[in-house]
Amino acid sequence: MSQQRTPLFTGLLEHANQKPVQFHIPGHKTGKGMNEEFRQFIGDQALSIDLINISPLDDLHHPHGMIKEAQNLAAEAFGANHTFFSVQGTSGAIMAMIMSVCHPGDKIVVPRNVHKSVTSAIIFSGATPVFIHPELDENLGISHGITPEAVQKALTANPDAKGVFVINPTYFGISADLKKIVEIAHSYDVPVLVDEAHGVHIHFHEELPLSAMQAGADMAATSVHKLGGSLTQSSVLNLKSRYVTPERVQSVLSMLTTTSTSYILLASLDAARKHLAINGRTLIENTIKLAEKTRKQINNISHLLCVGDEILGSNATYDYDPTKLIISVKQLGITGYDVEVWLRERFNIEVELSDLYNILCIVTPGDTEEETSILVHALQILSEEFEVKNKDEEALQVEVPDIPVLALSPRDAFYADTEIVSLDHSIGRISAEFVMVYPPGIPIWLPGEIITKENIQYIHSNMDAGLPVQGPEDETLETIRVIKEHKAFR
Ligand SMILES: Cc1ncc(COP(=O)(O)O)c(C=O)c1O
Repeated sequence: MSQQRTPLFTGLLEHANQKPVQFHIPGHKTGKGMNEEFRQFIGDQALSIDLINISPLDDLHHPHGMIKEAQNLAAEAFGANHTFFSVQGTSGAIMAMIMSVCHPGDKIVVPRNVHKSVTSAIIFSGATPVFIHPELDENLGISHGITPEAVQKALTANPDAKGVFVINPTYFGISADLKKIVEIAHSYDVPVLVDEAHGVHIHFHEELPLSAMQAGADMAATSVHKLGGSLTQSSVLNLKSRYVTPERVQSVLSMLTTTSTSYILLASLDAARKHLAINGRTLIENTIKLAEKTRKQINNISHLLCVGDEILGSNATYDYDPTKLIISVKQLGITGYDVEVWLRERFNIEVELSDLYNILCIVTPGDTEEETSILVHALQILSEEFEVKNKDEEALQVEVPDIPVLALSPRDAFYADTEIVSLDHSIGRISAEFVMVYPPGIPIWLPGEIITKENIQYIHSNMDAGLPVQGPEDETLETIRVIKEHKAFR
């Protein structure tokens, strides 16, 4: 197989160039039947490949032609036995991974700081989560991954678990010793499922953490769209397992996937795979150099810390991705969210995310020194301005939320009789809703967890800082839906 080929993208272009007379959807028919302003903006070329699964173009639900060939090339590039394209992001791929291994009532070992798609899959499948505490970084106020020791303990207590779920790397670019986790899980004949939303590129450079497939994991849901150059919403599910069959994965994916798959998204996956396979190493090499230079420059600015390899060495911080710039701003006495807004308003800079104590900026092959020097300059001014303004302010004290106790399975809680109570009067009640700060979308409460005073305070701190706390039906978070209490009749 030649990684120079793009069977899906090329096949699509050849089909479009034949200009067939179309009596099928999409009804805009290469743009002629749509709003003119939008058509002009998107352009005729893109619209000519906005096609549907007519027979010459194969079908993502039963791939045998150009999609199959493109998926095979992707499998070769990612070191998998099988690759499945997802047009429903990594969220869709994560749900498919979990639902491929878990039946109702089955246990799955998961870190508590998982993305909400994991909890959704746990609710849909009826699986019971065995939670592992992620290691908390008290200095930065972020969670890292899980340790091999914690996985060993969880499996010793639950050898009948049907899967171990790992985030590798985390949103902030930190990796645990995935190879060791895989060895432990496989010694119990338990497959390892990896959330690789933030790690499509790590497979293509030896200085980056091991990818899921390199570490021997069974499945990985990988956001090609985030850091691999394909269009937003396009991801892959990689499989290389003696525990899970491709047929099972295909049928679960099909259950979860739209029948109107976007060929623009699929073609972008094909093209991104070629780019990564052919040029990935060189591009990533340059990106690492640019990020390292930027990190050094930021660390020369007073009151700012851009995390580097000093973070390594704990059981959960085995390796890291230097293209992620975690910038701790707490010494300035302002929140990460304040910095996000300040950068937007003063310098038209948009960061990847902010939280109470940090901002996260990502450097990719799409950046040059022109962009990074704008960031460094802006941070220099930020530091000078707030040094004067906040000279009597203390650095922010890091507060990390408690991990609540799970009283009911998320599925039982989700489908239980519920009632709405005021948030401030909900202490001790069982939440029927997700509550999370998005991004990164990691739950403060899952359905089934007991609400604590400390976590309500944590929510208030985030809301007061302007951070986006999301999830409940009541967007103001004055109230929350909890499991109904059935009191005895008198
Ligand atoms: C850790 C993690 N997992 C999964 C996802 C879901 O990925 P997608 O947006 O491609 O559905 C995200 C998205 O931000 C994420 O941060």
